[in-house]
Amino acid sequence: MTTLNTDNTQVDYVAEIKRLKKEKNAVILAHYYQIAEIQELGDYVGDSLQLAQIAANVDADMIVFCGVHFMAETAKILNPSKKVVLPDMEAGCSLAESCPIEEFKPFVESHPDHTVITYVNASAAVKTVTDLVVTSSNAEKLINQLPADEKIIFGPDRNLGAYINKQTGRDMILWDGSCMVHEAFSLEKITDLLKEHPGAELIAHPESEAPVLNIADFIGSTAKLIEYVKTAKAKEFIVATEMGILHEMKKVAPSKILIPVPVKDDYICNCSECTYMKMNTLEKLYNCMKNETPEVLLKQETIDLALPSINRMLEMSK
Ligand code: 13P
Ligand code: SF4
Repeated sequence: MTTLNTDNTQVDYVAEIKRLKKEKNAVILAHYYQIAEIQELGDYVGDSLQLAQIAANVDADMIVFCGVHFMAETAKILNPSKKVVLPDMEAGCSLAESCPIEEFKPFVESHPDHTVITYVNASAAVKTVTDLVVTSSNAEKLINQLPADEKIIFGPDRNLGAYINKQTGRDMILWDGSCMVHEAFSLEKITDLLKEHPGAELIAHPESEAPVLNIADFIGSTAKLIEYVKTAKAKEFIVATEMGILHEMKKVAPSKILIPVPVKDDYICNCSECTYMKMNTLEKLYNCMKNETPEVLLKQETIDLALPSINRMLEMSK
């Protein structure tokens, strides 16, 4: 199917993207929150940990990262000799933005005897002042590997941090950041949905607020939520995370009923979509592969300082 491109040419995006993949020896890494058409074109589709693990070992000349900026930066840090492109450089993350390095660095410096643990949803600059990076799929496991009396600063997500504190019995000092998508979910509407669907289970990403997590039947990263829907006995699930995940869930569990969580009344849009994740379109993906831009570029110093904390995560996750 051909579509009119920005330069007024007719382009069959799907066919052209597949052709460019071969021509440029490129690999497409797509996160579960991407639009369905992009997930279908991904050589690998995964959660942030899986995509980082793949990026570290990929042998292609160009990594086309269909996700958000911090994910593409992580790929560049892990595999700096590769060209890493992102279809839209504006595809940021509200959580990463809630933790500017200008504020986080003094916070770290004011706690000199603390280990700094950073959720991967943070800028490369923040990772340069971090001891250990974690993702939502390994945070609990990795933090449990540290001595029980280790003093810890955890940033930037206050919800994931509070959840890990609860699960591990720790008292990590939390940075006050959050994700605008996961904080939009309405507890009241979820409670109504659970009454309307008595057999349904509530499954939630740990970036959601505590009142939602407190009533969830299962909490996990995007990959873990997908695996849960596939293997759990329940037939119906109320899904408290970004809606893009439903594409893979429907593929792996076609007979299950999936209900996206409604957002609070005072939110402008009645959907649980991440505007940043949805900035990547087929057209932008095609243009980015054709022109090999926008490219993620980082100073060598940033790579050198950020790499140890990400490598430590990959080592401890094994
Ligand atoms: P995952 O690590 O579960 O893929 O989550 C990434 C993310 O941005 C969640 O909002
Ligand atoms: Fe960031 Fe939230 Fe979007 Fe995930 S869903 S990329 S945490 S803004």
